[in-house]
Amino acid sequence: MSFLELQNLESTFVRENGNVTAVRGVDLEVVRCSRHALIGQTGAGKSILGLSILRLLPENARITGKVLFRSGDLLSCTEKELRDIRGKEIIMVFQNPLATLNPVLSIEKQLCEMPMHHEGLNLCEAKARAEQMLELCGLREPQKVMKSHPFEMSGGMLQRVAIAMGIICRPSLLIADEPFKGLDVSLQKQVASILYKVCRELEITLLIITHNLKVAKSLCDFVSVMHRGKIVETANSKNFFSSPCHPYSKSIVNAFKTFSGQLRDYQDHDRD
Ligand SMILES: Nc1ncnc2c1ncn2[C@@H]1O[C@H](COP(=O)(O)OP(=O)(O)OP(=O)(O)O)[C@@H](O)[C@H]1O
Ligand SMILES: [Mg+2]
Repeated sequence: MSFLELQNLESTFVRENGNVTAVRGVDLEVVRCSRHALIGQTGAGKSILGLSILRLLPENARITGKVLFRSGDLLSCTEKELRDIRGKEIIMVFQNPLATLNPVLSIEKQLCEMPMHHEGLNLCEAKARAEQMLELCGLREPQKVMKSHPFEMSGGMLQRVAIAMGIICRPSLLIADEPFKGLDVSLQKQVASILYKVCRELEITLLIITHNLKVAKSLCDFVSVMHRGKIVETANSKNFFSSPCHPYSKSIVNAFKTFSGQLRDYQDHDRD
């Protein structure tokens, strides 16, 4: 069995004025310790797919199919079993770290809570773990960071703290939904390289939802394309960018190549 396998996953919002099916019969396999990008146009269902894996949708949502993780189906386990998996085994990091972090609590309080709760560490052990993870995420002076509050930090620092918080219990799967959104290009690069390093060192499998094809290409082993609620193509990253199969994949890869080429042209033009 794969590390994570979605079988015929379907997520529908039940509404009085008509149901909306955001994910339509998705089959997807994610290989252990791989970095897997999920790309596709806005509204394609990427975030809803990520949230469906952990059953994090609002009450009016109906999720059917199977989410096979390790030896069980996450869609049929109890709320208690799922709570143990969330935060410890599978973590989701969102595009807006401020939404993940509590504005009135120090970083130390927020980081230490998870390993104390999930792994029974005492405060001293939890602090040591938190510092180690902040350092791994490229934050120098982790002790100083621990004493800070979210409002005292820049966007780039916040995203690193959010990643540190995500990995503090050493999950086996990290689902990151647009972790680069709102960051400038150099910070996007830094966050991408942190994700790469963290996933390698801690043997974490990464499912990353992104519009950033450059990151998908350089960071990920596999790419899946979502279009109108369905996965229309999954391929290894190299093959995907050299010879995409589905018409929609072809259009985005062509647009990506043309855009990158144009950027180079503009830069060449600037240098002339
Ligand atoms: N609570 C909800 N009730 C009804 N429909 C919803 C709800 N949340 C999302 N949708 C719909 O589900 C579809 C998929 O949304 P989703 O947020 O997964 O898109 P996405 O691929 O993540 O887009 P983006 O790249 O812009 O983040 C959209 O058509 C959206 O309008
Ligand atoms: Mg989204």
